Amino acid sequence: MLVLTLGGPAARSAPPDVTLQSAADGSFKIGAAITSAQLKDPKTASLILSQFNAITPEFELFPQFVHPEPDRYTFERADAVVDFAVENHLPVTGHMLCWGQFTPAWMFQDAGGQPLSRDKALANLKAHIDAVVSHFKNRVHSWDVVNEAISDTPNEYLRDTPARRAIGDDYVQKAFEFARAADPTATLFYNDYNIEDPQKLPKVLRLLRSLKAAGVTVDAVGIQGHWLIDFPAPAVIDKALRALEAEHLPVLITELDIDPLPRRDGADLANGDAKGADPYAAGLPAEVSRKLAMRYGEVFSVLKRHAKNVTSVTLWGVNDRQSWLNDFPVKGRTNYPLLFDRDLRPKEAFNAVLGVLKAP
Ligand code: XIL
Repeated sequence: MLVLTLGGPAARSAPPDVTLQSAADGSFKIGAAITSAQLKDPKTASLILSQFNAITPEFELFPQFVHPEPDRYTFERADAVVDFAVENHLPVTGHMLCWGQFTPAWMFQDAGGQPLSRDKALANLKAHIDAVVSHFKNRVHSWDVVNEAISDTPNEYLRDTPARRAIGDDYVQKAFEFARAADPTATLFYNDYNIEDPQKLPKVLRLLRSLKAAGVTVDAVGIQGHWLIDFPAPAVIDKALRALEAEHLPVLITELDIDPLPRRDGADLANGDAKGADPYAAGLPAEVSRKLAMRYGEVFSVLKRHAKNVTSVTLWGVNDRQSWLNDFPVKGRTNYPLLFDRDLRPKEAFNAVLGVLKAP
């Protein structure tokens, strides 16, 4: 159990008086994705408690980690994160129950990699969702039920995933039904990246409308928000937020970070053409730091404008050192996508966000 009091070792790195959570009060919750390992560091844990008022386990709820074999559940690490949140009265978002990645192969495939029968796959999905949602009942009140179901390919609707191959297109609907049955009062949401993309948004809306028509209540939509320093334009984010509001769908920004490193075309980088791709290994130049701060400011301006419908904004990590973007889409780069630096000091971007949040 880790309950921190001020005056402990953390107090030496005096946090700024105005915090993200106090500045965002009245607009939305400000969350952080965290890990059980981070909580073992008192300085990090203290920073989390001072700045953030919502928690998402970054990866320790992935089906692969909590349900490695059909009859074996390993909740210890996810429990550590969730208990920390609950002890400190912070709401927890459960990420995630069904996704094409980080899911054990046995759930939807046979030993030869072939899709299981629909009945067998549905039984596995139901058993998984029942067990996980029940285990965290009264501690996790909000679930990312299905992550990344929509295809990025133009003219293709749903993404090809092991669950879909075994169950069919209604695997999304079934996942929501199983989650609703396991915890009727939880907030259940659909989560994806690039939802704001004008090519992808209509497909997301199609999915949400089809679920509604089938009598399935989806309570909210999670926009991941893995954005770049110059993309997408604020007006594009604004338009997507308006479209979701028009559908009476509350929005959570579930995985916000802003990548200042070059992406060029993802394919280049994935093929190891990393020439010039790790330009800030020795530190972020002042002009890029400023640009990142301005970008964070403009993103938060849009989100704040939609604060009536955006219920929470969660940063995908606490500090630059542990961000997943040090290893994505290229392994081993030095990235700077968050609001606290490698030594947990607030960055220029932090001040920009505070400025926007505090403005009348
Ligand atoms: C990433 C985590 O940050 C990593 O720690 C993990 O190894 C892989 O997943 N979309 C998602 C998140 O929904 O789960 C991903 O998080 C980032 C992309």
